[in-house]
Amino acid sequence: MKFFLDTANVEQIKRFNDLGLVDGVTTNPSLINKEKRDFKEVVKEIASIVDGPISAEVTHYEYEEMVKEARELSKWADNIVVKIPMTEDGLRAINTLSKERIKTNCTLIFSVAQGLLAAKAGANYISPFIGRIDDMGEDGIRLVSDLHEVLFNYDYDSEIIAASIRTNKHLENAALAGADIATIPPSIFAKLFSHPLTDKGIYLFQKDWEEFEKRDK
Ligand code: E4P
Repeated sequence: MKFFLDTANVEQIKRFNDLGLVDGVTTNPSLINKEKRDFKEVVKEIASIVDGPISAEVTHYEYEEMVKEARELSKWADNIVVKIPMTEDGLRAINTLSKERIKTNCTLIFSVAQGLLAAKAGANYISPFIGRIDDMGEDGIRLVSDLHEVLFNYDYDSEIIAASIRTNKHLENAALAGADIATIPPSIFAKLFSHPLTDKGIYLFQKDWEEFEKRDK
């Protein structure tokens, strides 16, 4: 499974990238807004830190403007993937951009039909939003496993990015459901390493080692 970081925070990206576990980054207008930095500057900096795909989202929602903006974003670095919202204009833009070999990530996917259309339009990545679906009392993980089955049935190349991950369980279940990628906020990434029994185990090993060393003197 590939891990992307779902943030535009350069410090957090460097922190986790140094572990060798980061395969890419996803951003969106809300994440960019949090950083209070120039959009182009921050995306270019992220693209220079992480080797893999870096999603930068369009901020226009009409076909012509979206395609124009996508072409511009794609020039910012070789590893830019343009994030396009799942709308009729978005699908048309994905179709146009795929013919120009500009990589796209179709975002805001909340149903199997939306994912299937995005794959058919030529999206390289499709992003079902697990957490936001769960917030509505529905089953976000079920959408990931259904999309996995549908893409397999028709041999589509689009990769599934499990997005809107809010808990460790979301990540684990997305992996079990066959997501190709999980895009993980830094706050959740930091929690993936730890377990109370690991902490307790280290505490006991340290204590026993101190006793051993005292006895050995
Ligand atoms: C995906 O690419 C989005 O950036 C992200 O996962 C949205 O997550 P949220 O629902 O926590 O805002």
